[in-house]
Amino acid sequence: MSFPIIAPSVLSADFANLGRDVEMINASQADWFHVDVMDGVFVPNISFGFPIIKSIQNLAKKPLDVHLMIVQPERYIKDFKEVGAAILSVHYEACTHLHRTIHAIKEEGMKAGIAINPHTPISLLKDVIKDADLICMMSVNPGFGGQKFIEQTYEKCRELRDLIDKSGSNCLIEIDGGVNQITAPKLLEAGAKVLVAGNYVFGSTQPQAIIQALKNTHPHTTTKA
Ligand code: DX5
Ligand code: ZN
Repeated sequence: MSFPIIAPSVLSADFANLGRDVEMINASQADWFHVDVMDGVFVPNISFGFPIIKSIQNLAKKPLDVHLMIVQPERYIKDFKEVGAAILSVHYEACTHLHRTIHAIKEEGMKAGIAINPHTPISLLKDVIKDADLICMMSVNPGFGGQKFIEQTYEKCRELRDLIDKSGSNCLIEIDGGVNQITAPKLLEAGAKVLVAGNYVFGSTQPQAIIQALKNTHPHTTTKA
């Protein structure tokens, strides 16, 4: 697996032509499918559920990275495994017993991710960082595609990278929301390894070229005068 890992978000796909859009991702340089599940309670939007994810999995030739924006996600771990999730992320803010939930995901044979809202401090991850395979850092408030990137994310990403380095954790930093050609290089420089992109990919008439450009992004390096 080469970095950055690119995960187009199917939330921005054309659901009337979902098979076509899945095949477009299959034929592209994308690494994962990012699949956003919203329940209308944890976030003010409802996306899609098991039948749609199963349909994606039937065609997908790449792993499904499922991002649960739902309350009590521990109730559905087995169901998401059954419809094909390879990576399952739950929100820190939605889990009373996060440590238990992370391990329940791993026991089902999936990679376990923790998603955090923009207001959630990195310091709260200290005691679970070694258990997680991935931290999905939200760079917009979850619920909708196509929102404005929150600039504070760069600093927060560096802080998370420091926590990961100090703890000896192997977990990957994923950035979700407002990723494009401007934000991507700065995010990689700050330590991001996985880039989710919805609107930037599917809003283009050349989505495969956009994915290729993201895959070939190099971190911005700061040059000193
Ligand atoms: C937002 C979702 C994102 C969304 C990203 O709640 O978690 O995955 O699809 O969309 P863009 O890339 O359009 O900001
Ligand atoms: Zn997402």
